[in-house]
Amino acid sequence: MKMQKAWFYEEYGPKEVLKLGDLPIPSPLHNQLLVQVYAAALNPIDSKRRFRPIFPAEFPVVPGCDMAGVVIGKGANVKKFNIGDEVYGNIQDFNNSMEKPKQLGTLAQFIVVEESLVARKPKCLSFEEAASLPLAVQTAIEGFKTGEFKKGQTIFVVGGAGGVGTLVLQLAKLLFGASYVVSSCSTPKVKFVKQFGADEVVDYTKTKYEDIQDKFDFLYDTVGDCKKSFVLAKKDAAIVDITWPPSHPRAVYSSLTVSGEILEKLRPYLERGEIKPVIDPKGQYHFDNVIDAFGYIETGRAWGKVVVSHFPLEEIHSTVLSEINPNIKLNGLAKRPYKK
Ligand SMILES: NC(=O)c1ccc[n+]([C@@H]2O[C@H](COP(=O)([O-])OP(=O)(O)OC[C@H]3O[C@@H](n4cnc5c(N)ncnc54)[C@H](OP(=O)(O)O)[C@@H]3O)[C@@H](O)[C@H]2O)c1
Repeated sequence: MKMQKAWFYEEYGPKEVLKLGDLPIPSPLHNQLLVQVYAAALNPIDSKRRFRPIFPAEFPVVPGCDMAGVVIGKGANVKKFNIGDEVYGNIQDFNNSMEKPKQLGTLAQFIVVEESLVARKPKCLSFEEAASLPLAVQTAIEGFKTGEFKKGQTIFVVGGAGGVGTLVLQLAKLLFGASYVVSSCSTPKVKFVKQFGADEVVDYTKTKYEDIQDKFDFLYDTVGDCKKSFVLAKKDAAIVDITWPPSHPRAVYSSLTVSGEILEKLRPYLERGEIKPVIDPKGQYHFDNVIDAFGYIETGRAWGKVVVSHFPLEEIHSTVLSEINPNIKLNGLAKRPYKK
């Protein structure tokens, strides 16, 4: 059995239950790709599911949903991708596999993922930038759909500085035609949030929501603060909360749709630089420091996304791959040197 380096836990608990060790390299099934991971991003769900069994999987569990990397193997029914393709995606579709989520997440050298869940990485993005996008952008888009956002509406985004919030702001006018965008964050982040397209930014440490005169057609709450933020919604406005359970009776919970097609549709916007990945300058971690990376995201104060890179990149020899899965096609094996 061929082994790889991976971060995993064998009991629920704080970040200290995480261990770095050796786990088997998984084999891609019919419609799956075997991907060598170059970068991954963390999401609050990775911590929540480590603390308690919300999506139970057998131990050991490798955390991580988001990744960018290079295809090094594929199942016999894979149609869209070839060995050597640079891909990115959210590999965990919890909504459709709640009973059996993947045991092996993206904080490992190698992962398997259904081809329908990934897209080709735009050349203009680094692996880290690409890895930062999938789960957050899939969530951001879904919230507009859940609340049936209409072109020309005004929107208030609670939590414009987070992984999801920074993308909700970037999409509001560009993809959904919002006419006026206001968002909230704490004092140090006001300027930061403004750059993502907010017409106004409210410092929630200085201004109470009930003191804001404007009322909005759409309230998009990315932090679960609807108990307070609902006062910003017009009488018949949609209130969307992406945290569970929603914190106000009027709020509708929105859960992401996981698919590579969503990422593919964003390609032109990414290539034109109209949507930009937002990586926290203090949130870039080496593969060896995954515990610190979790410590940072768990403060709840990240500026955009927290990413992990510098995965150990050993060259995989054809003999090793054929031991993993004799059906793997070996032509054109990725031998890219790691780009820092
Ligand atoms: N339903 C779904 O499908 C789905 C998908 C993804 C995420 N989620 C959930 O959505 C939440 C946000 O995810 P995320 O990835 O964006 O998290 P994140 O990046 O960790 O969010 C951190 C940001 O939240 C802001 N924040 C915290 N409290 C705030 C408050 N009271 N008002 C305004 N901003 C506040 C912080 O800004 P300040 O420091 O300025 O406060 C910080 O920038 C998490 O609970 C996550 O589990 C749900």
